Amino acid sequence: MLFKQLFENESSTYTYLISCQDKQEAILIDPVVETLQRDIKILEQMNLKLTYAIDTHIHADHVTSAAALREITNCKVAGPAGDNLTCRDINFKDKDYLIIGNNIKLEAIYTPGHTDTHFSYILKNNFENFLFTGDSLLINSCGRTDFQSGSSKDLYNTIKNIFYNMPNDTKIFPAHDYNKNNYSTIENQKKYNTLIDDKINIEEFIERMNNLKLDKPKKIDIAVPHNNKCGVIE
Ligand SMILES: [Fe+2]
Repeated sequence: MLFKQLFENESSTYTYLISCQDKQEAILIDPVVETLQRDIKILEQMNLKLTYAIDTHIHADHVTSAAALREITNCKVAGPAGDNLTCRDINFKDKDYLIIGNNIKLEAIYTPGHTDTHFSYILKNNFENFLFTGDSLLINSCGRTDFQSGSSKDLYNTIKNIFYNMPNDTKIFPAHDYNKNNYSTIENQKKYNTLIDDKINIEEFIERMNNLKLDKPKKIDIAVPHNNKCGVIE
């Protein structure tokens, strides 16, 4: 397996490329339209066929390149079933999985809170666990819950009862980082996450989330309608 973490500057989004060099197949998680040409070039240079373009949720801060990738590479577009998008080829339910190449398995898990339909993905590679958390658990932070049917209570349950029960050495790869951190581990987030460590109770967490006072994402009015159509191109 070959794994690459790619970064889009404007929205500070991480896109993840997971590939099997033997069978020359690849998956992209949370690809961004601004970096479409870069991603196509990487696939070409690495001699990979894109099999799936996957989103963790309906993003509000950037437009997905899923539809454009399908147009160019003929890949399948996948994401949470709860989004109810007719533009997707695969709609994940909890614990569904995809396999590429030599048995590289990506499992989809329902992780609501940031949005009510949000999914994360787990990849087990030999003895390493990679967890792609989207906008649920971020490094030393977590996704906001104040729009797109978000819920601080659901996010608390997702992080505390699903993620923090995973093995401590599980590596966390979020959809964003605004401080150029690349990854963390469950163990470190339990100890050091400033919004949700493993000691905080649900009442305190909800109060913290209610007091974040964040600005509305700049692109939300463009991004959400586009992402409801997989980034468009029909
Ligand atoms: Fe988001």
